Amino acid sequence: MKILAIETSCDETAASVISFLQDKIDIQSNIVSSQIKIHAEWGGVVPNLAAREHLKNIIPVINESLDQSKTTLEEINLIAVTYGPGLIPALLIGTSASKTLSYFSNKPLIGINHVEAHVYANYFSENKKLLNDFEFPILALIVSGGHTQLILIKDHLKYKIIGETQDDAIGEAFDKIAKILKLGYPGGPIISKLADETKNKEVDLIKNTEIKKLFENLKFPRPMIGSGDFNFSYSGLKTSVMYFFKKLTTLSPSEKDLEVSKKLIAKYFQEAAVEILIKKSQKAIEEYDAKTFLLAGGVAANSYLRNQISENIKIPFHFPPLELCGDNAAMIAISAYYQYQNLSKKEKANLTSNWKTLEADSNLRL
Ligand code: KG4
Ligand code: ZN
Repeated sequence: MKILAIETSCDETAASVISFLQDKIDIQSNIVSSQIKIHAEWGGVVPNLAAREHLKNIIPVINESLDQSKTTLEEINLIAVTYGPGLIPALLIGTSASKTLSYFSNKPLIGINHVEAHVYANYFSENKKLLNDFEFPILALIVSGGHTQLILIKDHLKYKIIGETQDDAIGEAFDKIAKILKLGYPGGPIISKLADETKNKEVDLIKNTEIKKLFENLKFPRPMIGSGDFNFSYSGLKTSVMYFFKKLTTLSPSEKDLEVSKKLIAKYFQEAAVEILIKKSQKAIEEYDAKTFLLAGGVAANSYLRNQISENIKIPFHFPPLELCGDNAAMIAISAYYQYQNLSKKEKANLTSNWKTLEADSNLRL
């Protein structure tokens, strides 16, 4: 079957055409039009600006994905669209476009949960085969700009959220810290790169002795690391980095000292943020006797997190391909494929009238 998938939940307008034949999977197109440059000016995603850009790009992006896959709309068997969670003005563009396509082409339409799709990005392998041999129960760690969740998956499409952030998501914390340090947007890749190229001994490069002393006893907090549950909190860590940086700037650092300080802050922040994820994941694996560990979401591209998982997670684990960690429509298509397999004949038939009832839901839960 051929699926056309559409994603507009945040700041990427994306469309993809994927053909599924038993365990063979062929990504025929995967178009992502990013709005990073527009939102960078504001240091974060501005929902109405995002909607305006989606509106401008949605038809060209869908056309490009059909053209590149050499597919006509008539040849598509199923249209899939993200209907939540996400920014409502942004979601409305993708859902409206796909409802219109479905209505005029009389093709079935299926609504997909964005978080679930991030998890299903793990089912893509490098060699065009569907990876469907992960043993259940699966523990999935979702780390993105909007979510930090631990999800227990007992079987395909059977989820239980066992813990989540009580305030900021981890990706949001990376972005806010990059903003505090005036490093640019989005902060995740920038902080991660700086942190990875920094060694502890770089503190010796700092000339100002008072600043050097600040770093000597520095250990950023690991909020809720021993809370006994599987919830997270990242706002305290962010505030603590902010106060540390404020204190440091009152000591009038030279340009060079400031540069080294930012690198060290990035490194110590990343270590704190990731240690919490690892500890909670280990505890959840034990408590729920999970057989497979999956990582998902934009922050899954983080190399330090991947290394820490490789070193500390003692059950089989898997990461999505790097290019499918951030928002994309290929993950919407693969999620739709599994949803579709699970429907009864009648439910499948009803999908052609889904355009009447499908609604965007910014707080959609698994
Ligand atoms: O999944 P995603 O593309 O969008 C949401 O659904 O939120 O995640 C975006 C988030 C941003 O906060 C971005 O800074 C973060 O993922 N991110 C990273 C890295 N690459 C992207 N965070 C840490 N390290 C990275 N390498
Ligand atoms: Zn996402």
